Amino acid sequence: MNHSDQIAPEQGILGVLSGKSGEHTFQIFAQNRKIGSVVKLPFPMRESNNQAWAVTQLDEALKVLKDQEHFCVDPKSIDKNSNIKDSLTGKSDSSSSDFFLSNSLNAIDEPDHKRLRTLVSKAFTPRYMESLRPRVEKLANELLDQVQDQGEMDLVKDYANPLPINVISDMIGVPKSDHSKIHEWSEGIANGLGVGTADPKSAESLKLFGEYIKQLVANKRQQPSDDLISQLISIEEQGDRLDEKELISMIQLLIFAGHETTSTLISTGTLMLLDHPDQLEILKNDHSLIPSAVEEMLRYSGPSTTAGPRYALKDVELGGQQIKKGDMIFPLLKSANRDEKHFTNSEELDITRKIKRHLAFGQGVHMCLGAPLARVEGDIAFTTLLKRMPNLQLNIPREDVRWKFKLAAQGLSSLPVSF
Ligand code: HEM
Repeated sequence: MNHSDQIAPEQGILGVLSGKSGEHTFQIFAQNRKIGSVVKLPFPMRESNNQAWAVTQLDEALKVLKDQEHFCVDPKSIDKNSNIKDSLTGKSDSSSSDFFLSNSLNAIDEPDHKRLRTLVSKAFTPRYMESLRPRVEKLANELLDQVQDQGEMDLVKDYANPLPINVISDMIGVPKSDHSKIHEWSEGIANGLGVGTADPKSAESLKLFGEYIKQLVANKRQQPSDDLISQLISIEEQGDRLDEKELISMIQLLIFAGHETTSTLISTGTLMLLDHPDQLEILKNDHSLIPSAVEEMLRYSGPSTTAGPRYALKDVELGGQQIKKGDMIFPLLKSANRDEKHFTNSEELDITRKIKRHLAFGQGVHMCLGAPLARVEGDIAFTTLLKRMPNLQLNIPREDVRWKFKLAAQGLSSLPVSF
């Protein structure tokens, strides 16, 4: 059945953001791009007169992400008593979310953002990310060693999930025996962070995660070693350094932002290739195309449906709409990346496409800090997989593939494959 027969297109966006759109996401976005580049969402924000908007096209999404004079990530930059964020997520107890989200790099505006980003960027350089290649390769091979003789695996459980969690945990200095705990907690947190959801279990995960990281930091202060936490502890820039709360919140963000997204890239990227056997064939015959294939996977259906909501700092016109101070704006990255004005045959997967720019990692000052790492991981994950398992096939009927939705992102619960 055609999705447009069922609900209004703008209502469909709300469905996507709360994870209820199933596989109709791109149909909904295409309908909305036809309506306009900026679409009014059919709900006023609770307890406020402000309006919410979705940005469906690339030029306007870029403007929202880059124009700091008009748009911010923290509503408290508009009004320090704002409770807009809580009214969106339905959270009544904001103390735990404050700790995890509100003080994080992704959720603060200038000048604090610049200060934190400058400090953490000193440890997080593209050169350092590249230097991790041999470690990532080793981890990918170890995971495939464990399943190679079975001739089949669940690609999500056996490869896409453990690879990024092992890489980021390793990098940060989490002992191997605790990697699975980290994964469990961050899954619990992600499950409770969708628009309009408030899962009590996520508060518990948040607490345990926070306590664990606090203890880890205390241990690294006593015994520094060759890892990111020890580096973050010692970094100083012109007499400035991260305080305890900033340090813990930064480490949580890196772990959290660093693996769910990358794991989704690996699992959904594999499914994209299985769904497009002609593209898979081209890639199998020429592994040098893998970096370009990864960019196309990110464009075609990157892990993040939307960037974090932005708020208008003042009244502004955008895409022909009058946005009022305090209004909330969702830059829909997945929709912008299918913008017909910027990509020829935008709804088609073409791993040889020459991409000038896509928005899968966002843009502007909040653009993904971990993009170079995600690219290294994506490159190695697909190279290792195709080298060792060139006869990869889906092991269940296509219609039985199960999706899961969290944090306004669409991932896979499992992906049984044979090889
Ligand atoms: C394919 C994998 C990834 C995708 C698609 C992705 C996507 C994004 C996007 C869209 C943003 C911007 C959000 C916004 O503007 O509201 C972002 C920010 C961020 N990402 Fe990623 N990410 C990925 C991997 C990673 C990794 C591996 C790390 C770290 C290890 C990471 C750390 C961060 C951080 C710290 C920010 C906040 C930056 C800031 O606010 O200055 N991400 N990511």
